[in-house]
Amino acid sequence: MRERPFGIYVHVPFCAVRCGYCDFNTYTAEELGSGVTRDSYADTVLAEIALARRTLPDNPPVETIFLGGGTPTQLPAADLVRIVDGLGQAFGFAPGIEITTEANPDSVTPETLVTLRAGGINRISFGVQSAIPHVLATLDRTHDPERVPDVVRWARDAGFGQVSVDLIYGTPGESMDDWRRSIDHAIVLEPDHVSAYALIVEEGTALARQVRRGEIAMTDDDEMADKYLLADDMLAAAGFGWYELSNWARDESSQCRHNVLYWQSANWWGFGPGAHSHVGGTRWWNVKHPSAYAGRLTAGESPMHDSELLDAETTRTERVLLESRLRTGLDLEVLDAAGRTAIPELVGRGLVTDTDPLVLTREGRLLADAVVRALLPD
Ligand SMILES: C[S@@+](CC[C@H](N)C(=O)[O-])C[C@H]1O[C@@H](n2cnc3c(N)ncnc32)[C@H](O)[C@@H]1O
Ligand code: SF4
Repeated sequence: MRERPFGIYVHVPFCAVRCGYCDFNTYTAEELGSGVTRDSYADTVLAEIALARRTLPDNPPVETIFLGGGTPTQLPAADLVRIVDGLGQAFGFAPGIEITTEANPDSVTPETLVTLRAGGINRISFGVQSAIPHVLATLDRTHDPERVPDVVRWARDAGFGQVSVDLIYGTPGESMDDWRRSIDHAIVLEPDHVSAYALIVEEGTALARQVRRGEIAMTDDDEMADKYLLADDMLAAAGFGWYELSNWARDESSQCRHNVLYWQSANWWGFGPGAHSHVGGTRWWNVKHPSAYAGRLTAGESPMHDSELLDAETTRTERVLLESRLRTGLDLEVLDAAGRTAIPELVGRGLVTDTDPLVLTREGRLLADAVVRALLPD
């Protein structure tokens, strides 16, 4: 475990509104049911931290923490700070630790941002998604886009050195010009980091039902590709470099170190309902529902639902999947003989560089799934 950096994820499963496209493990107040409350959530997570401390007596200092969701900022800021303090006491922090929280633009105030920053949280990722009211409405997003510049300014005033914004492209009804204006809106905020995700229709969501009933039509693949390239062009012109398929940073110091730690298959412990952990070659995940999670911890039991020991082939497959998406690329030694034989054709089609590590070209980034399939033949 000491060979690789150690990170911590804390899942906060609460949202004000459930966005129609989202299948994350998160609940509105009405959906939550009995057995768990937002008020008691920090103490429940602290109980899991105490249990983990006993299970993991000797860990390297924590390099990164990511408070994700759901919407972490649905919790009182002081509760998030208590969780961070508990993690520091239990596991110890490395100098220069990165501590990120996700936030929706309508779930923070100047005061809560000051509390979060004073409590050691030094990176914030805002779910901006779009600048266009009709696109935000289709996505069920609740914030007013005109508030976003204020929110980013409050974060800067509170002392956040690293500010990221999340965007989504390909929402039904979003024109190319809508998307251009959304990227512009993000650039004008002068963030340090931008994530731009293609809207995925997840099974079981309200969006999937609307698409199935023919009420809305999903954006076709060609338009998705054009939107990706537009984002890459505009972000590059504004000084951002891609470092993972969907992520651009001002420079290396603005990359999300926590996500890089995932992509490089390092060690992380996930706290909270449904959270996944990956430590020392074992993966495990917690019970999914917040009531079940709280119930286990109240009874003094581990909230783990199941686990698996990762064999060498699974680890190798995951490395291909994750590292091929990075600008630092995939070491050829990770490929087996069959995967290596696919390289000349991929190079010929202009999808990957003829180098070790192998890196996706711009064209290759549009067809990353096909590249991975070729590198991992069954
Ligand atoms: C799960 S959210 C958590 C943070 C916060 N609640 C928010 O919405 O910004 C993290 C990111 O995942 C994105 N996301 C969730 N479901 C998605 C989907 N089906 N397709 C693309 N992006 C998605 C969200 O829009 C958001 O930017
Ligand atoms: S996208 Fe974010 S705000 Fe919307 S339901 Fe998912 S976690 Fe909640």
